[in-house]
Amino acid sequence: MQTTFSVEHIRKDFPILQRRVRNDRPLVYLDNAATTQKPVQVINAISDFYTNHNSNIHRAVYALAEEATEAFEEVRDKVARFIGIKDRQEIVFVRGTTEAINLVAYAWGRQNIASGDIIMTTEYEHHSNIVPWQLLAKERGARLEYIGMDDQGTLILDHLDRYLQTGRVKLVTVSHMSNVLGTITDVDTIIKKCKNAGVRVLIDGAQSVPHMKVNVQELGCDFFAFSAHKMLGPTGVGVLWAKKELLEAMAPFHGGGDMIREVHKYETTWNDLPYKFEAGTPNIADVIGFSAAIDYLEKIGMDFVRKHEIELTKYALEKLSSIKGLKIYGTPDLSRRGGVISFNFADIHPHDLATIIDEDGVAIRSGHHCAQVLMERLDVAATSRASFYIYNTKDEIDVLVSSLNRAARVFKL
Ligand SMILES: Cc1ncc(COP(=O)(O)O)c(C=O)c1O
Repeated sequence: MQTTFSVEHIRKDFPILQRRVRNDRPLVYLDNAATTQKPVQVINAISDFYTNHNSNIHRAVYALAEEATEAFEEVRDKVARFIGIKDRQEIVFVRGTTEAINLVAYAWGRQNIASGDIIMTTEYEHHSNIVPWQLLAKERGARLEYIGMDDQGTLILDHLDRYLQTGRVKLVTVSHMSNVLGTITDVDTIIKKCKNAGVRVLIDGAQSVPHMKVNVQELGCDFFAFSAHKMLGPTGVGVLWAKKELLEAMAPFHGGGDMIREVHKYETTWNDLPYKFEAGTPNIADVIGFSAAIDYLEKIGMDFVRKHEIELTKYALEKLSSIKGLKIYGTPDLSRRGGVISFNFADIHPHDLATIIDEDGVAIRSGHHCAQVLMERLDVAATSRASFYIYNTKDEIDVLVSSLNRAARVFKL
């Protein structure tokens, strides 16, 4: 199957891609690191749930409730398979990566991080993998430290070695792929080093699972988090995977319905995994929508997704590099980079740039991308960011490039 033919095919499944936006221009959606568009299969699955099967789950015995419970629980099996996990009890549905990380910081962190301990992360983390650890470190009298990076965004793993030697590091928490630089973290090496030192590892897979094949079991980490909305699924659904023995030892995060076995006036016992961590009515319809998103990605194949994005990134890097005054961040090594390109254009403020190119229908992100520690490290206030997915084309990159050239004329560069 020809790549271009498939992408044309794929685009037809995304109603929003038929839209015209400002100045009646066709939408060129290049903000996929923030969230991806949804195929009709996902939209229909949600609509079908509300039209034909809506009920609460895990409780009632009538037909609709059984259908809804079965459909919801099937998604757990599907998610487990998709990320290479055998035990469905290790898959916890949450609202997104942010909630997954907060769950670990709260439930595992409070039991396992003590005064003087060190939690390590990187300078290119999303705020959701920094702030929960700052909160925990303050509460427990622990320290949050950073594995430094070189100017291209490659981690300096000697820093990790040095900290591991202190014997004080209890957790290393890193993103699998940076949402700003696109850097693919060498998690294999990090996990190996941490295992040897008896240190737990959390991987933030928000930007990796949507874009490449990830087998969490093979990775060998302890916790893994990702969000459905960045992989064609609905917002408000995410996954925490953790090793069973860790989940079993952890106290609950939220208290309420479904997470209990018995509640008495002063004592409560917990439900089995994973329900112990799923208090209250979950986002049933969107979990079912997520199932359709996984089906869609499996049909295309994650190898195709990665290959297509490498092709687009290579093309975009070549084209963007030819624009005078445009500075691109991150490594040029495509084997270690995802489909995310952050840049600054002369002294045009990224917000002004994004506003100008929006007039051509091009949607890119501008700002700090929830990565202010990285902005400080790069010594910039903000960047512009184009990020790709399965439905993007080289023609769209050409539109981006010609729009940037128009911006150069507007700003008299
Ligand atoms: C690397 C990374 N981690 C975490 C998050 C947070 O994800 P969510 O907002 O879905 O919780 C994002 C979102 O942009 C991200 O890119």
